[in-house]
Amino acid sequence: MEELASILYTAEQIRERVRDLGGAITRDYAGREPVLISVLKGGAMFHADLLRAVDLETKVDFMSISSYGAGSSGVVRIVKDLDDDILNQDVILVEDIVDTGLTLSYLLGTLREREPASLEVCALLDKSARRITPLDIRYRGFDCPDRFVLGYGLDHDEYYRNLPFIVTVEDMAGLERDPLALAALLESAGERYR
Ligand code: IMP
Repeated sequence: MEELASILYTAEQIRERVRDLGGAITRDYAGREPVLISVLKGGAMFHADLLRAVDLETKVDFMSISSYGAGSSGVVRIVKDLDDDILNQDVILVEDIVDTGLTLSYLLGTLREREPASLEVCALLDKSARRITPLDIRYRGFDCPDRFVLGYGLDHDEYYRNLPFIVTVEDMAGLERDPLALAALLESAGERYR
């Protein structure tokens, strides 16, 4: 499997970081009821685990976005908006990965206009080397290398979101040719990285 993909973070390493992030949010928001917003689809798995690591009365809401065109341009369409108003609420935007930062910067702008009491970001992966827009990420799981990553919510062509660990793709051309190229390999490797 090593030549096609390699393990970046095991399920155990992810569990530990999620526990730490949940602990930090619990301490920082003591006495308050933050709204944890999940950005679908990639952030859903992280959001679900993070929620259970936060020991507070929390609220949840979901947003679904899609990017226009190939690659990140920061031009984002809101496919599903929040169900509830966030006026005067303490909002934490939960993201899977921040790459150029253009998507997040657009989302933060949109949410800020709704005048929450506070607005912070909790991102599992931060590809900080690729940042175009400076952003303040208050809670951050890992400083991720500048590589294409998959698993734990992150997809290629909608596949691989259900991997419990995160891999870097070593053979991007091979994956483009056959989107399921890694499936059998990762399935057989799965037990080792849980
Ligand atoms: P940004 O606007 O460049 O920060 O892009 C953020 C979005 O790009 C994320 O929410 C992901 O959907 C996607 N993305 C960026 N890097 C990766 C990756 O390595 N694997 C899978 N999706 C990625």
